[in-house]
Amino acid sequence: MSANTKGRLLLTAQGMNSDHWTRVLASGGRDVVLEPAAGEDPSIDYAVLWRYPHGLLKRLPNLKLIFSAGAGVDHIMSDPDIHGMHANVPIVRVVAPNLTQHMVEYVLWRVMDHHRQGAFYRHQQAQRTWNDTPQPTTDRVTVGIMGLGELGRSVAAKLGALGFNLAGWSRTQHELPGVDCHAGPEGLTPFLQKTDILVVLLPLTQETEGMIDYDLLTNLRQDGPLGGPCLVNAGRGRLQKEADILRALDDGLLKEVSLDVFEREPLAEESPIWQHPRIFVTPHAAASSDPDHLGPLMVAQMEAFERGEPLKHLVDRARGY
Ligand SMILES: NC(=O)c1ccc[n+]([C@@H]2O[C@H](COP(=O)([O-])OP(=O)(O)OC[C@H]3O[C@@H](n4cnc5c(N)ncnc54)[C@H](OP(=O)(O)O)[C@@H]3O)[C@@H](O)[C@H]2O)c1
Repeated sequence: MSANTKGRLLLTAQGMNSDHWTRVLASGGRDVVLEPAAGEDPSIDYAVLWRYPHGLLKRLPNLKLIFSAGAGVDHIMSDPDIHGMHANVPIVRVVAPNLTQHMVEYVLWRVMDHHRQGAFYRHQQAQRTWNDTPQPTTDRVTVGIMGLGELGRSVAAKLGALGFNLAGWSRTQHELPGVDCHAGPEGLTPFLQKTDILVVLLPLTQETEGMIDYDLLTNLRQDGPLGGPCLVNAGRGRLQKEADILRALDDGLLKEVSLDVFEREPLAEESPIWQHPRIFVTPHAAASSDPDHLGPLMVAQMEAFERGEPLKHLVDRARGY
């Protein structure tokens, strides 16, 4: 890529609308291709990726920059070529006001539904039953947020405005107004013990995989005002052990659950989760990637890179997110 030329871009985003993404990414006159040339393709400078086949990046020997088309980079970090031939290629993650807003809306929706006994009233309506149920105010309920990153912090600010007590848990210690912040393995149990509604907004890494298990769920506050703790996971499905969540519901350790993400996606037709009366399912739809919002941010980063300016929102390879 010489000075004054725009880098060529490969887009591989399975499950996303490639035509729409291509229109947006090519709008400034940039060359966008959906397939590398046969064998190796040295003409490709940038890759915009979502659920792409591992092995693809081997064919791009001159790759200079990688963009994740969705929030979460576990699909890229699990590619051996990222740690091999492309070990020095920067990876840009998604940080966009539009996506954050969608996630805030999803979490507020699910937290308010658990808080205002949505499952109880839906069941009553189906039975044509007319009964009130005790309703604690938000200041008696603690929402515990796992992950205080771009999404977790925005969610905390909005839940705080509704009057909820807030606890937070992250890898490193944070100071956030109105949030009782905990960090690291030693901070996990005290965080869980005060949590009535657990909201999971963690990335999937080697450290976080499978951590939402039975043992963790036993630590949630059992004597809270909602009659039992609730779980909302909008991070990644492989953070959770679904058999353990079902067991915790059966054992009365969990009252209700909202899941946007699953160990295997799409959720298997035979999964008992579909029919469970106390699980609310959405199909990994909490905050979808909108090319009209994300595409221009990526193009702006490519232009900054071509001017030799620093990049924003880079993945820290050592942390894995
Ligand atoms: N369902 C959907 O539609 C959807 C949409 C968008 C995103 N997501 C998911 O949401 C995740 C979070 O997004 P984000 O932009 O908020 O990420 P982020 O800004 O990278 O924040 C990640 C947070 O998780 C914490 N964390 C990471 N590893 C940890 C560990 N081992 N122990 C404790 N805390 C740990 C980090 O701690 P530090 O602050 O100490 O670094 C940080 O607070 C994404 O990775 C993605 O998987 C899902």
